[in-house]
Amino acid sequence: MSPIPALSRRRFLVGASGLVLAGCAQVATRDPAVIGETALKDRAARKGLVFGAEVAPRLLRNSAYRAMLIRDAGMVVAGNALKWGPLERFRQTISFRGADTVARFAESHGMAMRGHTFLWHRMVPSWLPGALRDEAEDPARLLAGHIRAVGERYRGRMHSWDVVNEAIEPDDGRPDGLRNSLFLQALGPAYLELAFRTAAEADPHARLVFNDYGQEWGWDVGRRRRDATLRVLENLLKKDVPLHAVGIQGHLDPGVDGAMDMHSLGRFCDEVAELGLTIQVTELDARDTSIGGGIARRDRLVADAYARFLETVLARPATKAVITWGITDRHSWLTRHFPRPDGDTVRGLPYDADFTRKPAWYALAAALDAAPKRAPSPTL
Ligand code: XIL
Repeated sequence: MSPIPALSRRRFLVGASGLVLAGCAQVATRDPAVIGETALKDRAARKGLVFGAEVAPRLLRNSAYRAMLIRDAGMVVAGNALKWGPLERFRQTISFRGADTVARFAESHGMAMRGHTFLWHRMVPSWLPGALRDEAEDPARLLAGHIRAVGERYRGRMHSWDVVNEAIEPDDGRPDGLRNSLFLQALGPAYLELAFRTAAEADPHARLVFNDYGQEWGWDVGRRRRDATLRVLENLLKKDVPLHAVGIQGHLDPGVDGAMDMHSLGRFCDEVAELGLTIQVTELDARDTSIGGGIARRDRLVADAYARFLETVLARPATKAVITWGITDRHSWLTRHFPRPDGDTVRGLPYDADFTRKPAWYALAAALDAAPKRAPSPTL
């Protein structure tokens, strides 16, 4: 506990801004007493940014969960409901129930919505791989038909769409660094162009996003991912493919050496901006899977990761949105997909499992407050 009461400490920090703060700005500005509890969406809006979170439709029945989102999120994204597999388990029977629940929630609370995602190599329907290999089928029609059906349903209501997700995989050994996915196998690299053009027709108002992970990795594979991404984007833009933004998922792993190379990430953001594209942080979380010690230490290191990452991306005016992948540790993919050795809940999100703000929330708030103001723009 600090021996200085919150209020006088606040005055001291504000009064001493500049010189005294210089060495300890990060710690000082993340003090809850200084930061206050202004909603994240309001802090973001002041800077011309959007803050939002991933949600699961079934959880929206819980009023405390809803309240957290209504307070902090200016945008929501359905985590799984718009993936091809959950949407169309049985061919030609598309179920929009989950996604409609999220859309209704967003619309009744004045929130924007993002679409995730038309094409991802995972969570596809079990009938799809066979259909794409079937000589009697036209794979281009199949892909375009899917994008059209889903895109048109939410036409004019989506802030942005992750048109392709995780299309880069340098370890698949192709010179262009593209993932050897079922889509690529069916159509070659042209599937990317087809996807973006079809998405633009289906929903001409949505920002069309090329979403991926690992842009912040320091290892050699991180460099290869960034290089491949930039080359693929350049090629698409040369062909006038409608493509507006790069999605940086931002699944951070601060307990692992080399997983967060902020210098390389910053350069990548600059290169994306030079291509005339904007940036969205689409799936932010920071896992403490490999971090030992008590909860205070784990939470501090997770918050540090948020701070370092956000300082880098928000310094770039091209960055327009920050979305966390979930809002509370109670419902996070991390605990299942990246379990801790001690079996404890992974504490990677802004609120803990009891819906209490964590240091990561304050780090987010501080980073939004410190972000340079964006010029007002219709193309967030
Ligand atoms: C995750 C969901 O959160 C989980 O519920 C599901 O089991 C697997 O997918 N990158 C993405 C997201 O683009 O779609 C993933 O979402 C997390 C990693």
